[in-house]
Amino acid sequence: MRSSLSSAPGFGRLSGVPLYVPGKPIQEVQRELGLTRIIKLASNENPWGPTEAVKARVASVISGSEFEGLGLYPVSDGYYLRKRIAERKGVALDRVVLGNGSSEILEMVAKAAFLDGGSAVIPRHSFAIYGIAAQTAGGRVIESRASATELDADDILRSVAEDTRLVYLGHPNNPTGIRLERAAIERLARGLREDIVLVVDQAYAEYEDPANYPDAAAYLDERPNLLVLHTFSKIHSLASLRIGYGLGSKELMGFLERVRSPFNTNHLAQAAAEVAVQDLAFEAFSRQKNTEARTAFVQEAARHRCQLTGACGNFMLLESAFPAAELFKELLQRGVIVRPMQGYGLPNHIRVSFGKPDEMQAFWNAAGPLLDGGC
Ligand SMILES: Cc1ncc(COP(=O)(O)O)c(C=O)c1O
Repeated sequence: MRSSLSSAPGFGRLSGVPLYVPGKPIQEVQRELGLTRIIKLASNENPWGPTEAVKARVASVISGSEFEGLGLYPVSDGYYLRKRIAERKGVALDRVVLGNGSSEILEMVAKAAFLDGGSAVIPRHSFAIYGIAAQTAGGRVIESRASATELDADDILRSVAEDTRLVYLGHPNNPTGIRLERAAIERLARGLREDIVLVVDQAYAEYEDPANYPDAAAYLDERPNLLVLHTFSKIHSLASLRIGYGLGSKELMGFLERVRSPFNTNHLAQAAAEVAVQDLAFEAFSRQKNTEARTAFVQEAARHRCQLTGACGNFMLLESAFPAAELFKELLQRGVIVRPMQGYGLPNHIRVSFGKPDEMQAFWNAAGPLLDGGC
């Protein structure tokens, strides 16, 4: 008799977990549609980097001029990069953990938290990996109230159940491009039950004005069960190397260390990120370019009478009169990759990442006539 894995314990539950759908890679569109010029505005990457200094460091590793070369295992805990991050963030070295992208740390904390089951509170319209990480680790998802334009800290607090182990919060949130104000972050940091790990995902924090951004890391000493995440994939422009980091209490880091795969971050990524994390000038430059891109995008959307959502990050949501999946397909035919948002409970929205001016022009050349039809 053949037995189906999907009726086996564990696997059965897994078959109900949604698959993560990434932004379509340029190569795939080339292969499928035979197009030559393709613009990707689908995964919130920074088009302005990486910097020459980062590339030089990567080249020195590849050429073997650095003693480790590629034949040796990387430093398993990423000591040297963690040291740089600790210096930059003003925290002790033992309060920094690295991940193969911050996505891996979202998974690591879920793996630790849900060893005996439990639930995660996640606001509606959040980054898909939160729910996937919780469910694949055996956790249950409780969705708290949020709209495309407003997050609700009090509903997060209200949604907590007896078995809640984790709260995930995008700050700013992807895909909606909104964030909580300082007072609300504080209510969460102080008001959540102490045994719950509050995961504040700050993947897009560096795009915020540093003078006004309520960095959740300010509560690290006050709240031991707080994990603040950053990534090198966004403003640092190192998405392909897969590296991110988390800041938390020494105790929490000790637990994450137990679930972290040895050598989870590779040597090239560690070396590149060591250079990137110190380059404040490139961050400021990218932030400025992003502000310019946002201003131009808002102006162009107004010309086409399009409804936009989001004020944070390097992307915006654009609402159209017809289903996002259709608009996505039409744009693909014209060589422009965006992200349709139906999987995020936003059936008529596409998410557009901010590229360079010529890429944004290509977007409007393709999208304008479609949207003028009635978005
Ligand atoms: C809110 C948010 N968090 C985390 C990530 C994951 O970033 P990475 O795994 O590349 O570090 C992303 C990527 O799009 C994101 O949008």
